[in-house]
Amino acid sequence: MKRFLPYLRYLKGRHVALALALLCGAVSGLVYGYGLPKVINEVFPKIFTDDTGQPATTALLKPSAPPATGTTALAPTPAEQLAAKERIRAGRTLSTREIVGYALLIPLIFLLRAVSGFLNNYLMSYCGIGVLEALRVELYRRLQHLPLSYFGRNRTGDLLSRLTSDTQVVQQTITSSASDLVIQPVTLVGAIYFLAVTSLKNDGVGLFLASLAVVPVCVFPVRLIGKKLLRRAQENQRLLGDISDLASQNFSAAREVRAFGLEEREIGIFQATTRHLFRIQLKVVRYSQVLSPSIEVIASLGIAFSLYYAYYAGLTLSVFVSILGALFVCYEPMKKLGGLHGQLTKGAASLNRIEEILQATVSIADPAAPVAVTSLRGELAFDHVTFAYQNGAPVLRDVSVSIPAGTICALVGPSGAGKSTFANLVPRFYDATGGTVSIDGIDTRALRLADLRRHIAVVSQEPVLFNDTIFNNLLIGRADATRVEVEQAARDAFAHDFIAALPQGYHTKVGERGALVSGGQRQRLALARAFLRNAPVLILDEATSALDSESEAAIQLALKQLVVGKTVLIIAHRFSTIRDATKILVFDQGQIVADGTHAELHAGNALYRSLYDRQQGA
Ligand SMILES: Nc1ncnc2c1ncn2[C@@H]1O[C@H](COP(=O)(O)OP(=O)(O)O)[C@@H](O)[C@H]1O
Ligand SMILES: [Mg+2]
Repeated sequence: MKRFLPYLRYLKGRHVALALALLCGAVSGLVYGYGLPKVINEVFPKIFTDDTGQPATTALLKPSAPPATGTTALAPTPAEQLAAKERIRAGRTLSTREIVGYALLIPLIFLLRAVSGFLNNYLMSYCGIGVLEALRVELYRRLQHLPLSYFGRNRTGDLLSRLTSDTQVVQQTITSSASDLVIQPVTLVGAIYFLAVTSLKNDGVGLFLASLAVVPVCVFPVRLIGKKLLRRAQENQRLLGDISDLASQNFSAAREVRAFGLEEREIGIFQATTRHLFRIQLKVVRYSQVLSPSIEVIASLGIAFSLYYAYYAGLTLSVFVSILGALFVCYEPMKKLGGLHGQLTKGAASLNRIEEILQATVSIADPAAPVAVTSLRGELAFDHVTFAYQNGAPVLRDVSVSIPAGTICALVGPSGAGKSTFANLVPRFYDATGGTVSIDGIDTRALRLADLRRHIAVVSQEPVLFNDTIFNNLLIGRADATRVEVEQAARDAFAHDFIAALPQGYHTKVGERGALVSGGQRQRLALARAFLRNAPVLILDEATSALDSESEAAIQLALKQLVVGKTVLIIAHRFSTIRDATKILVFDQGQIVADGTHAELHAGNALYRSLYDRQQGA
């Protein structure tokens, strides 16, 4: 229960609703727990006028005792029964009005309970679901701001499952337990209060204690099973994460699965995981469902005790019936509270998984006192920069280089040498493990992330498009661009012609991740975005690798325009793009081993020459 309290802060404007819900819950619980047995206790003696505590059949006969002479039969004759009934009827003092009034008290209690119970349930859910909505958004917000390295450490499918399935479990916990949380304890307290008062009035302390002795006994299995349940519930959610992860991986590799005939293998892996899930889910069901029946059995012992005691204490029937009523009323809360404990435990298990995200540190964030900038020229400098991906071996080792504003700087080197990593440090996709990366002489970590990234355009090897129209996908480059500017950018990137040829032109949807356009088209759209952004720093990471030679020739022209006056980091495996660079950095095993122009490096650097010659030969 305590686990959920901190989230009350997401209630926002719903405090009044919560207070009202609590009030309704209390009314509902009291009316049922105390009101019902009380009414039985008050009304029954008025209706059953002969109530003397004797068994009913004896009571009917009592006025005629001793038995009529000559007859020793214990059973009354029909005539005697009729006579007894007549006497009872004759002894009635209530008017029809009164008796109707008394009789209606019970439906009245149930009506009150129904209305207040409904209101309690509805208002509690209103608050609970509202809190959950806020929690979901908070979770998503956190995921937007977590650094890229977080997504490297955590599997997408599992994160997805936390966002959907775990929040769903918490929501179920809240909605199913929200009303019980107030109504059941209040009902229990009301009924116990009635039991106490009635037992003491009829000097039956023993009766009271006997009927209540079962409560602590009920707590025991709840505790014991709760611990087991928490572990299983957590494992259950973890497995759901695994399944979601397996599926998301499989879907994104749909082509590979078919090409390599991996269908059966994939099904096998999936089946093994679901089988494991099946076993865990059965355990969860076992632990969460065993609670309420066992509490039921224990609670029925209370009734047995009170029956036994009532016999010796010589209680009247109406007192006994009201006590039985109170015990019966206790029954449901005890059962429900047991189940509630199970539900809360499951909710807590999911909440733990949600909190792992909520409490993850946003290691790449705005500084406390950012340096204010309006525009940057784009002079880059790396000063003794070291970098390693999450405790792995260093990928960049003591890299120092300065790139003046307006330089077209090409990064070359064997694959895995650290070129992409180097470029990723500029927009702070990752932070250097040691040393500093600066822009215009300002440490990038001293700038607001938005200020820094606003001045950088990135085109990657596999640009991702959103499942939206081409037009909206281009607008991502600059949200306030006009229709004319968007079209101009598309022309500059040699994308306008193919866009115009599409049936819906700029309003064609590109499909999930841009699956409905070709790789080369996707890259030209990504370049058009960069044209629109018109940022002083441009990072092209193998941005032209997916182009066929015809579009590449066109793109070369486009790039020549795009790069004018900008600081450009260009990583390309085609040397045709690189030859024109004003500065070339040669990477090898995480270090810059040489820099210079094409002519200088071709003459003086063996690695560069071998890379270049190999491609020319190919
Ligand atoms: N997200 C990542 N997590 C862990 N290691 C990575 C990651 N990205 C790249 N690496 C490793 O860092 C090294 C440099 O990679 P990268 O900078 O992409 O090389 P290049 O772009 O020169 O081919 C490689 O050994 C690669 O395996
Ligand atoms: Mg790379």
